[in-house]
Amino acid sequence: MRILVIGSGGREHTIIRKLKESPKVDRIYAAPGNGGISKDAECVNIGVMDKEGMVAFAKENAIDLVFVAPDDPLAAGMVDTLTANGIRAFGPRAEAAIIESSKVFSKNLMKKYGIPTADYEVFDDPKKALAYIEERNKYPVVIKADGLALGKGVIIAQTQSEAKDALKEIMEDKKFGDSGNNVVVEEFLTGPEVSVLAFTDGISLEPMVSSKDHKRAYDNDEGLNTGGMGTISPNPYYTPEIAEICRKTIFEPTVAAMNSENRTFKGCLYFGLMITPDGPKVIEYNARFGDPEAQVVLPRLKTDLVDIIEAVIDEKLSQIKIEWKDGATACVVMASGGYPLSYKKGMEITGLDENGQVEGAEVFHAGTKLENGKFYTNGGRVLGVTAEGKTLDEALDKAYKAVKKISFEGAHYRTDIGRTK
Ligand code: AMP
Ligand code: GLY
Repeated sequence: MRILVIGSGGREHTIIRKLKESPKVDRIYAAPGNGGISKDAECVNIGVMDKEGMVAFAKENAIDLVFVAPDDPLAAGMVDTLTANGIRAFGPRAEAAIIESSKVFSKNLMKKYGIPTADYEVFDDPKKALAYIEERNKYPVVIKADGLALGKGVIIAQTQSEAKDALKEIMEDKKFGDSGNNVVVEEFLTGPEVSVLAFTDGISLEPMVSSKDHKRAYDNDEGLNTGGMGTISPNPYYTPEIAEICRKTIFEPTVAAMNSENRTFKGCLYFGLMITPDGPKVIEYNARFGDPEAQVVLPRLKTDLVDIIEAVIDEKLSQIKIEWKDGATACVVMASGGYPLSYKKGMEITGLDENGQVEGAEVFHAGTKLENGKFYTNGGRVLGVTAEGKTLDEALDKAYKAVKKISFEGAHYRTDIGRTK
């Protein structure tokens, strides 16, 4: 098979490494890919939003399958366009990807179908939103821009005045553009967070092994929210009992709700959960693999990923058995100094042997470029240094040993991945 993977980050590098393990795969292309990815796949310079470009490339190169990994092209209907042109594609259509691209949609869906989530109000008028905040006396409160905002459209306001500032920034100053035309104002929940990704063909749903992201930039969960600074799998808070509750009250009802709305979801559905004192609740849905969740989940997959993708597309997911490795994985993200704010690019990366130089560790490239045989930084998140172990401690130990061998000017990483709630 000839497979095209759309995207250019650590998640896509992980997907490509996994696809390479399949005996069914002859050739992998990445659009646009990155420096590290170019060692594992042929990178082609087509932008992730260029639907016509993807269709033309897929036709010219007899592509058998396109894996659409990032949120933007999914929300923009990349899968719809590819499918309409007779090209097999993995991922939800736009009408289903809306579960991630509109928080107003997902909150209303959960309310309508009784899926547990934080209580909330929706506003499209900044005056009404402000009037609501004037009356509200329960803080903190969470304010979310409706649309995609690079994971930055969520503000936890500790006081009324912070809430007003947030509303003003989102709705009036349009800090996140049109994403802020509508806002969700919701109850602040507490408890450990868990990410559960699941394969679904719209009929059945198979949860993958659980994981935990670390979204804040600095140790002790301080600093700004980022795309994710590191992950572990499994998530120690996700017990078999909690998993069973999630399946019955969240996962299966979500698949059924999307079917009832005529928005059947096929692909990878990501449940961002919080285990609150009142039970598990949904914080957010994503319509795709998480980044860096993919980096710890996919290495634990034993079943051929190509078989699973084909079963999802052909609506035969219940016919295959998906198996996972025991043990644990950990991923430590090495970022450019300054990320998630401004940072420099083009720093040479040293100590970067293909496999991180530590047995059981591997490096997924998120933002690198390759020039004359040398790797340079080329993004905020640069590398996802990942390791497997029999235990979480072993996985973390190996990942950090590998991290210490790698350096570039300004490199920043958290030293407490897997150690915080
Ligand atoms: P999201 O982009 O929706 O995943 O939100 C980013 C982060 O904000 C989440 O990972 C949580 O840590 C936090 N968050 C979002 N919604 C809430 C909430 N209702 N209560 C507490 N924390 C939240
Ligand atoms: N790591 C969180 C996300 O991919 O949205």
